Amino acid sequence: MPIVRTKKELAKQLKTSNYRKGIGLVPTMGALHKGHEFLVQKAVEQNDLVVVSIFVNPTQFDKQEDLEKYPKTLEADVSLIKKVDENIIVFAPSEQEVYGENISSKNYDFEGLDKVMEGSFRDDHFNGVGTIVEALFLLVKPDRAYFGEKDFQQLRIIQKLVEIERIPVEIVACPIVREPHGLAMSSRNERLSTEIRQKAAFIHETLKSAKKFFGTKSAYYVKEKVKESFDSHSEFGLEYIEITDVETLTPVKEKKEGQKYRAFIAVYAEGVRLIDNIALN
Ligand code: PAF
Repeated sequence: MPIVRTKKELAKQLKTSNYRKGIGLVPTMGALHKGHEFLVQKAVEQNDLVVVSIFVNPTQFDKQEDLEKYPKTLEADVSLIKKVDENIIVFAPSEQEVYGENISSKNYDFEGLDKVMEGSFRDDHFNGVGTIVEALFLLVKPDRAYFGEKDFQQLRIIQKLVEIERIPVEIVACPIVREPHGLAMSSRNERLSTEIRQKAAFIHETLKSAKKFFGTKSAYYVKEKVKESFDSHSEFGLEYIEITDVETLTPVKEKKEGQKYRAFIAVYAEGVRLIDNIALN
């Protein structure tokens, strides 16, 4: 399986064939788990050639400490990818290869999608995500690119990115993959103790009951209920619970007929920040 480190090598690999179904790209920061495996599997089913990028992108971290702590598990990542398909191209460039001497992000106008939830807690995060994803799109020129709904806000940002930058790529949204107890798959779960990892099923359970309440109650009521449920779970600290319109991600004040809504949550457990979300209707 080719592991490619430079843009030049990547261009060479991409030139070698005729693609009937097209090229699929799965952008990742490594530390791959079953959620990523799902994306890679889907990409293999829908394309003749798949590129998985593994790059811990410095411009999307607001804290240097988080960047330094981010797990780097290239060998294990490569074996997970290989199990899905031996012909996948792994693109694992260095920071310098991607950014040269100027490690900085572009400034996008994501029309407010970046100003709420993750955007309001993580300075400049989505400009960093947009910068690296746009760079990868320009290098790989994929027909399709795969993103998980666990990072739903990121998914909406990428959809906006391709619209504003007019990049001809289909964004394929893939459902959240969960651990047996219900916790959404994330590289961060590895940092939790076994006990808390099991108890963290509470986060998904909370979202499921929010969905049930949302059928008959206001968004305000549902959010208050969620906040209350954390009073009896002191091992989890609620950072935010938000209910938004799925298109604009603006927090809902009054429910409107025919509009689609989603609930989003960010929680701290043992110092680890966990996010999750659920479609409400
Ligand atoms: O979701 C991620 O792992 C990252 O934000 C992404 C999309 C690979 C960009 O670095």
